[in-house]
Amino acid sequence: DWTMGAYRDDAIAKIRDQVGDRKVICGLSGGVDSSVAAVLIHEAIGDQLTCVFVDHGLLRLNEADEVVSMFRDNYNIPLIHADEADLFLNALEGVSDPEQKRKTIGKLFIDVFQKYANDIDGAEFLAQGTLYPDVIESVSFSGGPSVTIKSHHNVGGLPEKMGLKLVEPLRELFKDEVRALGRELGLPASFIGRHPFPGPGLAIRCPGEITREKLEILRKADAVYIDQIRKHGLYDEIWQAFVAILPVRTVGVMGDGRTYDYACALRAVTSVDGMTADYYPFTHEFLGETATRIINEVQGINRVTYDITSKPPGTIEWE
Ligand code: XMP
Repeated sequence: DWTMGAYRDDAIAKIRDQVGDRKVICGLSGGVDSSVAAVLIHEAIGDQLTCVFVDHGLLRLNEADEVVSMFRDNYNIPLIHADEADLFLNALEGVSDPEQKRKTIGKLFIDVFQKYANDIDGAEFLAQGTLYPDVIESVSFSGGPSVTIKSHHNVGGLPEKMGLKLVEPLRELFKDEVRALGRELGLPASFIGRHPFPGPGLAIRCPGEITREKLEILRKADAVYIDQIRKHGLYDEIWQAFVAILPVRTVGVMGDGRTYDYACALRAVTSVDGMTADYYPFTHEFLGETATRIINEVQGINRVTYDITSKPPGTIEWE
């Protein structure tokens, strides 16, 4: 794609111009935006960039390992893996209100990021994968009537707090353009096509109180579900798909025995921008097969439901 090739060269020149020989810190989430930003900046200034990956213990199965090995081993990008699962999960103990979860995670995220970033001597810039829609949204929200449905957890305010200047090489791009730039930079197609994943992670897919046990069950069920979707060639038709573990145990039978385990809900939606969404019309065969696999393969779940709510009136996530 010649357009993206030109954009990339131009962006690299601008980053070099802005940063010179100084150091940049980049918060890596494992998502497409921050990953593309990191790889682009690394092409521009090499090891003047250090990435900080805050692992809040709310990621999907094997996700932390995949991010670390991709950036550290594949791309040779200096990466600090801040494994702070205990800190986050302890703070979330007893918290069941969705907004309180986001606030708890958001605040700790900033503290942790700052702690690790302070160890990077003499860094003067903070890189963010801010996109054009983010820029628009923050402008139109300021001053306007605020109807906040969910306070999105992000690192707003961090640069000022840390006295860092911002590097935002994706500020002019829409999501599909970021994906094109990612391809241009050689990021694997499977990675670029990944469904969006919310900052608070599995916390908002575990309505009610979060426990380590529930998270473990959720991770396994989600992995089976996504595997099913990929096997049936549906992954790229879907905007987002995930499992939510419900805060209820139900009675079932398996073999000769009675079970009393968690129920879960499968979610899959199509969408253009996440603002509105339709539930995905899986076939009954697919749903039946997936329910059977989850119940057989995931200890702790004995009932599977499919969420057929569109947005509005529902939201994509359960919290
Ligand atoms: P909802 O659930 O509001 O989600 O329909 C719309 C899109 O936003 C994502 N989402 C979040 N992303 N922090 C994030 O970074 C959040 O707190 C958050 N809540 C929802 C959601 O995954 C979907 O893509």
